[in-house]
Amino acid sequence: MALVAVVTGASRGLGLETCRQLAARGVHVVLTARTQEAVQTGLAALGAPAAGRGGAEGHVLDVADDASVAAFFDWLERGRGRADILVNNAGRTYGGWAAGLAGTDAATIAAALDNNALGAWRMIRCVLPAMNAAGYGRIVNVSSGMGQLSDMNGGAIAYRISKTALNAVTRVAHAEAGRNVKVNSVCPGWVRTAMSGPSATRSVEEGAAGIVWAAMLPDDGPSGGFFRDGRPIPW
Ligand SMILES: NC(=O)c1ccc[n+]([C@@H]2O[C@H](COP(=O)([O-])OP(=O)(O)OC[C@H]3O[C@@H](n4cnc5c(N)ncnc54)[C@H](OP(=O)(O)O)[C@@H]3O)[C@@H](O)[C@H]2O)c1
Repeated sequence: MALVAVVTGASRGLGLETCRQLAARGVHVVLTARTQEAVQTGLAALGAPAAGRGGAEGHVLDVADDASVAAFFDWLERGRGRADILVNNAGRTYGGWAAGLAGTDAATIAAALDNNALGAWRMIRCVLPAMNAAGYGRIVNVSSGMGQLSDMNGGAIAYRISKTALNAVTRVAHAEAGRNVKVNSVCPGWVRTAMSGPSATRSVEEGAAGIVWAAMLPDDGPSGGFFRDGRPIPW
Protein backbone atom coordinates (compact mmCIF):
# COMPACT_ATOMS: atom_id res chain seq x y z
CA MET A 1 0.00 0.00 0.00
CA ALA A 2 1.23 3.46 -0.92
CA LEU A 3 2.06 5.90 1.82
CA VAL A 4 -0.62 8.59 2.22
CA ALA A 5 0.50 12.23 2.41
CA VAL A 6 -1.71 15.17 3.35
CA VAL A 7 -0.40 18.50 2.05
CA THR A 8 -2.01 21.76 3.17
CA GLY A 9 -2.33 24.91 1.06
CA ALA A 10 -1.51 22.83 -2.00
CA SER A 11 -3.37 24.44 -4.89
CA ARG A 12 -0.27 26.31 -6.07
CA GLY A 13 3.34 27.15 -5.23
CA LEU A 14 5.39 24.97 -2.92
CA GLY A 15 2.40 22.90 -1.77
CA LEU A 16 1.45 21.91 -5.30
CA GLU A 17 5.05 21.10 -6.24
CA THR A 18 5.42 19.04 -3.06
CA CYS A 19 2.35 17.04 -4.11
CA ARG A 20 3.87 16.56 -7.56
CA GLN A 21 7.22 15.33 -6.22
CA LEU A 22 5.62 13.03 -3.62
CA ALA A 23 3.26 11.48 -6.18
CA ALA A 24 6.23 10.89 -8.50
CA ARG A 25 7.80 8.87 -5.68
CA GLY A 26 4.74 6.64 -5.44
CA VAL A 27 3.06 8.40 -2.51
CA HIS A 28 -0.73 8.78 -2.58
CA VAL A 29 -1.29 12.51 -2.24
CA VAL A 30 -4.22 14.23 -0.55
CA LEU A 31 -4.11 17.75 -1.98
CA THR A 32 -5.95 20.23 0.21
CA ALA A 33 -6.85 23.88 -0.18
CA ARG A 34 -9.24 26.38 1.34
CA THR A 35 -11.91 26.22 -1.37
CA GLN A 36 -13.32 23.51 -3.64
CA GLU A 37 -12.34 25.64 -6.64
CA ALA A 38 -8.73 25.77 -5.45
CA VAL A 39 -8.73 22.00 -4.84
CA GLN A 40 -9.89 21.41 -8.42
CA THR A 41 -7.30 23.86 -9.77
CA GLY A 42 -4.58 22.02 -7.88
CA LEU A 43 -5.69 18.56 -8.99
CA ALA A 44 -5.90 19.73 -12.61
CA ALA A 45 -2.39 21.19 -12.39
CA LEU A 46 -1.11 17.94 -10.88
CA GLY A 47 -2.49 16.09 -13.87
CA ALA A 48 -1.72 12.67 -15.27
CA PRO A 49 1.69 11.91 -13.72
CA ALA A 50 0.16 11.87 -10.25
CA ALA A 51 -2.77 9.74 -11.33
CA GLY A 52 -0.40 7.25 -12.98
CA ARG A 53 1.94 6.81 -10.00
CA GLY A 54 1.06 7.38 -6.38
CA GLY A 55 -2.32 8.83 -7.26
CA ALA A 56 -3.99 11.93 -5.90
CA GLU A 57 -7.27 13.12 -4.51
CA GLY A 58 -8.35 16.42 -3.04
CA HIS A 59 -10.40 17.88 -0.23
CA VAL A 60 -11.27 21.29 1.17
CA LEU A 61 -9.27 22.25 4.27
CA ASP A 62 -8.81 25.61 5.97
CA VAL A 63 -6.20 25.06 8.68
CA ALA A 64 -7.31 28.20 10.52
CA ASP A 65 -10.83 26.83 11.00
CA ASP A 66 -11.43 24.16 13.70
CA ALA A 67 -14.62 22.93 12.01
CA SER A 68 -12.89 22.59 8.64
CA VAL A 69 -10.05 20.59 10.21
CA ALA A 70 -12.54 18.31 12.01
CA ALA A 71 -14.57 17.76 8.83
CA PHE A 72 -11.40 16.97 6.89
CA PHE A 73 -10.29 14.27 9.33
CA ASP A 74 -13.80 12.77 9.40
CA TRP A 75 -13.53 12.43 5.63
CA LEU A 76 -9.96 11.10 5.73
CA GLU A 77 -10.75 8.48 8.37
CA ARG A 78 -13.78 7.23 6.40
CA GLY A 79 -11.68 6.90 3.24
CA ARG A 80 -7.91 6.44 3.34
CA GLY A 81 -7.96 5.91 7.10
CA ARG A 82 -4.95 7.90 8.20
CA ALA A 83 -2.04 9.99 7.05
CA ASP A 84 1.50 8.61 7.02
CA ILE A 85 2.91 11.99 6.02
CA LEU A 86 1.67 15.48 6.89
CA VAL A 87 3.14 18.54 5.19
CA ASN A 88 2.03 21.71 6.95
CA ASN A 89 2.67 24.03 4.03
CA ALA A 90 -0.24 26.48 4.34
CA GLY A 91 0.91 29.96 5.24
CA ARG A 92 0.64 33.56 4.27
CA THR A 93 2.11 36.95 5.03
CA TYR A 94 0.45 39.50 7.28
CA GLY A 95 0.88 43.26 7.20
CA GLY A 96 3.48 43.32 4.44
CA TRP A 97 7.22 42.67 4.45
CA ALA A 98 8.11 46.16 5.70
CA ALA A 99 5.71 46.25 8.67
CA GLY A 100 7.79 46.15 11.85
CA LEU A 101 7.17 46.74 15.56
CA ALA A 102 5.46 50.11 15.28
CA GLY A 103 3.66 49.49 12.00
CA THR A 104 1.79 46.34 13.02
CA ASP A 105 -1.17 45.96 15.35
CA ALA A 106 -1.77 43.10 17.78
CA ALA A 107 -4.68 41.72 15.77
CA THR A 108 -2.45 41.25 12.73
CA ILE A 109 0.18 39.36 14.74
CA ALA A 110 -2.53 37.22 16.38
CA ALA A 111 -4.01 36.38 12.97
CA ALA A 112 -0.58 35.34 11.66
CA LEU A 113 -0.03 33.12 14.68
CA ASP A 114 -3.46 31.56 14.29
CA ASN A 115 -2.93 30.74 10.63
CA ASN A 116 0.77 29.97 10.29
CA ALA A 117 1.53 28.34 13.65
CA LEU A 118 -1.76 27.15 15.15
CA GLY A 119 -2.84 25.84 11.75
CA ALA A 120 -0.01 23.31 11.98
CA TRP A 121 -0.85 22.61 15.64
CA ARG A 122 -4.50 21.88 14.70
CA MET A 123 -3.33 19.38 12.09
CA ILE A 124 -0.62 17.70 14.15
CA ARG A 125 -2.87 17.03 17.14
CA CYS A 126 -5.18 15.12 14.78
CA VAL A 127 -2.49 12.96 13.14
CA LEU A 128 0.06 12.34 15.89
CA PRO A 129 -1.88 9.80 18.00
CA ALA A 130 -2.46 7.54 14.98
CA MET A 131 1.15 7.96 13.81
CA ASN A 132 2.43 7.07 17.28
CA ALA A 133 0.15 4.02 17.38
CA ALA A 134 1.29 2.89 13.93
CA GLY A 135 4.99 3.44 14.61
CA TYR A 136 5.37 5.49 11.45
CA GLY A 137 4.93 9.16 10.63
CA ARG A 138 6.62 12.08 8.92
CA ILE A 139 5.52 15.62 9.74
CA VAL A 140 7.05 18.58 7.92
CA ASN A 141 6.37 22.12 9.04
CA VAL A 142 7.20 24.51 6.22
CA SER A 143 8.89 27.28 8.14
CA SER A 144 11.17 30.09 7.06
CA GLY A 145 14.59 31.55 7.70
CA MET A 146 12.58 34.63 8.70
CA GLY A 147 11.60 32.71 11.84
CA GLN A 148 15.18 31.93 12.86
CA LEU A 149 16.04 33.52 16.24
CA SER A 150 19.70 33.21 15.28
CA ASP A 151 19.19 35.41 12.21
CA MET A 152 16.30 37.63 13.32
CA ASN A 153 15.90 40.97 11.59
CA GLY A 154 13.47 43.89 11.46
CA GLY A 155 10.25 44.08 9.44
CA ALA A 156 7.56 41.49 8.71
CA ILE A 157 7.05 41.07 12.44
CA ALA A 158 3.78 39.12 12.22
CA TYR A 159 5.19 36.61 9.73
CA ARG A 160 8.49 36.29 11.61
CA ILE A 161 6.82 35.61 14.97
CA SER A 162 4.42 33.13 13.38
CA LYS A 163 7.28 31.11 11.87
CA THR A 164 9.29 31.17 15.11
CA ALA A 165 6.17 29.87 16.87
CA LEU A 166 5.77 27.22 14.18
CA ASN A 167 9.29 26.05 15.01
CA ALA A 168 8.22 25.75 18.66
CA VAL A 169 5.29 23.59 17.51
CA THR A 170 7.86 21.39 15.74
CA ARG A 171 9.90 20.95 18.91
CA VAL A 172 6.89 20.15 21.13
CA ALA A 173 5.48 17.68 18.59
CA HIS A 174 8.91 16.07 18.27
CA ALA A 175 9.03 15.65 22.06
CA GLU A 176 5.62 13.94 21.97
CA ALA A 177 6.35 11.83 18.90
CA GLY A 178 6.73 8.08 19.33
CA ARG A 179 9.11 5.62 17.74
CA ASN A 180 9.74 6.26 14.05
CA VAL A 181 7.60 9.41 13.99
CA LYS A 182 9.70 12.33 12.74
CA VAL A 183 8.77 15.98 13.06
CA ASN A 184 10.93 18.62 11.41
CA SER A 185 10.86 22.22 10.28
CA VAL A 186 12.05 23.01 6.76
CA CYS A 187 12.96 26.35 5.21
CA PRO A 188 12.53 26.12 1.43
CA GLY A 189 14.76 29.13 0.77
CA TRP A 190 13.59 32.21 -1.15
CA VAL A 191 11.34 30.73 -3.80
CA ARG A 192 9.59 32.20 -6.86
CA THR A 193 5.94 31.73 -5.81
CA ALA A 194 2.96 34.06 -5.41
CA MET A 195 4.30 34.82 -1.93
CA SER A 196 7.85 35.89 -2.84
CA GLY A 197 7.49 36.97 -6.46
CA PRO A 198 9.68 36.61 -9.53
CA SER A 199 12.84 38.12 -8.01
CA ALA A 200 13.31 35.22 -5.58
CA THR A 201 16.44 33.18 -6.15
CA ARG A 202 15.07 29.63 -6.21
CA SER A 203 12.69 27.66 -8.40
CA VAL A 204 9.66 26.01 -6.87
CA GLU A 205 11.20 22.61 -7.70
CA GLU A 206 14.34 23.45 -5.69
CA GLY A 207 12.28 24.76 -2.77
CA ALA A 208 9.99 21.74 -2.65
CA ALA A 209 12.87 19.24 -2.85
CA GLY A 210 13.92 19.99 0.75
CA ILE A 211 10.33 19.56 1.93
CA VAL A 212 10.04 16.21 0.15
CA TRP A 213 13.38 15.13 1.63
CA ALA A 214 11.93 15.60 5.14
CA ALA A 215 8.65 13.94 4.16
CA MET A 216 10.46 10.81 2.90
CA LEU A 217 13.08 10.40 5.62
CA PRO A 218 14.27 6.85 6.24
CA ASP A 219 13.73 5.27 9.66
CA ASP A 220 17.20 6.38 10.80
CA GLY A 221 16.62 9.98 9.65
CA PRO A 222 16.62 12.99 11.98
CA SER A 223 13.70 14.41 13.98
CA GLY A 224 13.20 17.66 15.87
CA GLY A 225 15.46 19.69 13.59
CA PHE A 226 15.36 22.67 11.25
CA PHE A 227 16.63 22.03 7.72
CA ARG A 228 17.23 23.67 4.37
CA ASP A 229 18.06 21.43 1.40
CA GLY A 230 18.44 18.49 3.77
CA ARG A 231 21.07 20.21 5.86
CA PRO A 232 20.58 21.45 9.45
CA ILE A 233 20.27 25.20 10.02
CA PRO A 234 20.24 27.01 13.40
CA TRP A 235 16.90 27.80 15.09
N1 LIG B 1 8.14 31.41 -1.25
C1 LIG B 1 9.09 31.60 -0.35
O1 LIG B 1 10.11 32.26 -0.63
C2 LIG B 1 8.98 30.99 1.02
C3 LIG B 1 10.09 31.09 1.88
C4 LIG B 1 10.01 30.52 3.15
C5 LIG B 1 8.84 29.88 3.54
N2 LIG B 1 7.77 29.82 2.68
C6 LIG B 1 6.57 29.13 3.14
O2 LIG B 1 6.18 28.17 2.18
C7 LIG B 1 4.77 27.92 2.31
C8 LIG B 1 4.14 27.94 0.93
O3 LIG B 1 4.22 29.25 0.41
P1 LIG B 1 4.37 29.58 -1.14
O4 LIG B 1 5.65 30.30 -1.30
O5 LIG B 1 4.09 28.39 -1.96
O6 LIG B 1 3.23 30.69 -1.32
P2 LIG B 1 1.78 30.68 -1.99
O7 LIG B 1 1.89 30.33 -3.42
O8 LIG B 1 1.17 31.97 -1.60
O9 LIG B 1 1.05 29.44 -1.27
C9 LIG B 1 0.56 29.51 0.03
C10 LIG B 1 -0.65 28.65 0.07
O10 LIG B 1 -1.10 28.53 1.44
C11 LIG B 1 -2.50 28.60 1.41
N3 LIG B 1 -3.06 28.94 2.71
C12 LIG B 1 -2.83 30.05 3.47
N4 LIG B 1 -3.57 29.99 4.58
C13 LIG B 1 -4.27 28.84 4.53
C14 LIG B 1 -5.21 28.22 5.38
N5 LIG B 1 -5.64 28.80 6.52
N6 LIG B 1 -5.71 27.01 5.05
C15 LIG B 1 -5.33 26.40 3.91
N7 LIG B 1 -4.47 26.96 3.03
C16 LIG B 1 -3.96 28.17 3.35
C17 LIG B 1 -2.82 29.63 0.35
O11 LIG B 1 -4.15 29.51 -0.05
P3 LIG B 1 -5.14 30.82 -0.20
O12 LIG B 1 -4.70 31.50 -1.45
O13 LIG B 1 -6.49 30.20 -0.27
O14 LIG B 1 -4.93 31.66 1.00
C18 LIG B 1 -1.81 29.22 -0.72
O15 LIG B 1 -2.35 28.21 -1.55
C19 LIG B 1 4.23 28.97 3.27
O16 LIG B 1 4.05 28.43 4.56
C20 LIG B 1 5.35 30.01 3.29
O17 LIG B 1 5.37 30.75 4.50
C21 LIG B 1 7.82 30.35 1.43
